Amino acid sequence: ALRATFAPKAVKENQNRNHILQPQASYKVALLGAAGGIGQPLALLIKMSPLVSDLHLYDIANVKGVAADISHCNTPSKVADFTGAAELANCLKGVDVVVIPAGVPRKPGMTRDDLFNINAGIVRDLVSAVADNCPGAFIHIISNPVNSTVPIAAEILKQKGVYDPKKLFGVSTLDVVRANTFVAQRKNLRLIDVDVPVVGGHAGITILPLLSKTKPSASFTDEEIEELTVRIQNAGTEVVEAKAGAGSATLSMAYAAARFVESSLRALDGDADVYECSYVQSDLTDLPFFASRVKIGRKGVEAFIPTDLQGLSEYEQKALEALKPELKASIEKGVAFAQKQT
Ligand code: NAI
Repeated sequence: ALRATFAPKAVKENQNRNHILQPQASYKVALLGAAGGIGQPLALLIKMSPLVSDLHLYDIANVKGVAADISHCNTPSKVADFTGAAELANCLKGVDVVVIPAGVPRKPGMTRDDLFNINAGIVRDLVSAVADNCPGAFIHIISNPVNSTVPIAAEILKQKGVYDPKKLFGVSTLDVVRANTFVAQRKNLRLIDVDVPVVGGHAGITILPLLSKTKPSASFTDEEIEELTVRIQNAGTEVVEAKAGAGSATLSMAYAAARFVESSLRALDGDADVYECSYVQSDLTDLPFFASRVKIGRKGVEAFIPTDLQGLSEYEQKALEALKPELKASIEKGVAFAQKQT
C-alpha cells in the first residue's frame, strides 16, 4: 500500500505492552527547538516510538524541564537535554535523524515569508552544526518559510561539502494530514483509508492538493474542488487566526512531524514500503525543489513517483503552473541568503 500512517508497525503488530517497552530498534533523534509549541508535543510523540533509543532535546532556553518531564514516560528511549550553542555539537553527535522546528511562528496577518528574516539565520546556524557533527543524518526542516529554509539548508550543506539531497526533507506532512481529514469529512469516507497527495510547496497557493489522485478514488464537483483546495491552502491561517496571537499550528504539526519521523525511522530500519510527501530537491518539474510523494529508503529519497504529476485535472494543471513563479522566487530568496553568507 502506498499509504503511510502514523501508526508504528511494531506497535500495531505487538499489542503486548512488554514489547512496546522493549526498543525494537535503536535510532537516535535530535529535536532542535524542543521547548517550543511544536517541539514539546513532538518530543512527547517521538518518546512513544519503539524505534528510538535516544532522544536529544535542544533549545536556547527552557529545555531542561521539558526533558525531565518527558523522561519519566516509561517508554524505551533515553532523553537528554542540551541548552544553547555550546551544547549543540554534543546534541548532534551520532544522531540518525535531526528535526528542526526552531524559530518564530506566524501571528495573525503574517505570511510564512514574513518569518524569513529571523528563521533563515536560525536554520543556517543549526544546519551548519548538523553538517559539522552528523553529516549523514536525515534532516527534517519544519521552520518556516519551508519553501526557502530548505534551499538555505541545501546551500549551507553544499558549502560544507556534505550535501546529500536524498537526506534533506522539508516537512509538508501537515498539508497531507489536513487534506486527508478535510476530504474524508466532505466525502464521508473512512478517514484511515484516505490519502491525498499534496505537491508544490508549503505556503499559500504553492500548496497543491491533487484531489484527482485521492485514494480511494472519489469524485468532486468543481465547487468542492475549489472549496477543499482553498481550505487546505489556508488551514494554517485558520489556526493562526483561531489562536489570535498565541502562535500557529503546534499540535497537528507535532502529529504530522511525528508521522514523518516514524516513516523515516521505518525506512532506515529497512521497511521497503515507505512513501510520504515531502519538499525535496527534485527534477519532477523545472523547479529545483518541489514537494511530491517520494519513496524513502535507508539512504533517504529512493524514488520519485512521476505518474503523480501525470493525468492531472485541468484545475490542477493550471494551479501547478500558477504556483511555480512564487515557489521559484522563494527558492531563489533562500539560495541568495545562503550565498551571501560565504
Ligand atoms: P515557538 O516559538 O513556540 O517555538 C520555537 C522554539 O524555537 C522556541 O522554543 C525557541 O526557543 C526555539 N529557538 C529559537 N531560536 C532557536 C535557535 N537558534 N536554536 C534552537 N532553538 C531555537 O514556535 P512553534 O509554534 O513551535 O513553531 C516553530 C516553527 O515551525 C515556526 O517557524 C513555524 O512557522 C513553523 N511551522 C511549520 C509548519 C510546517 O508545516 N512545516 C507548521 C507549523 C509551524
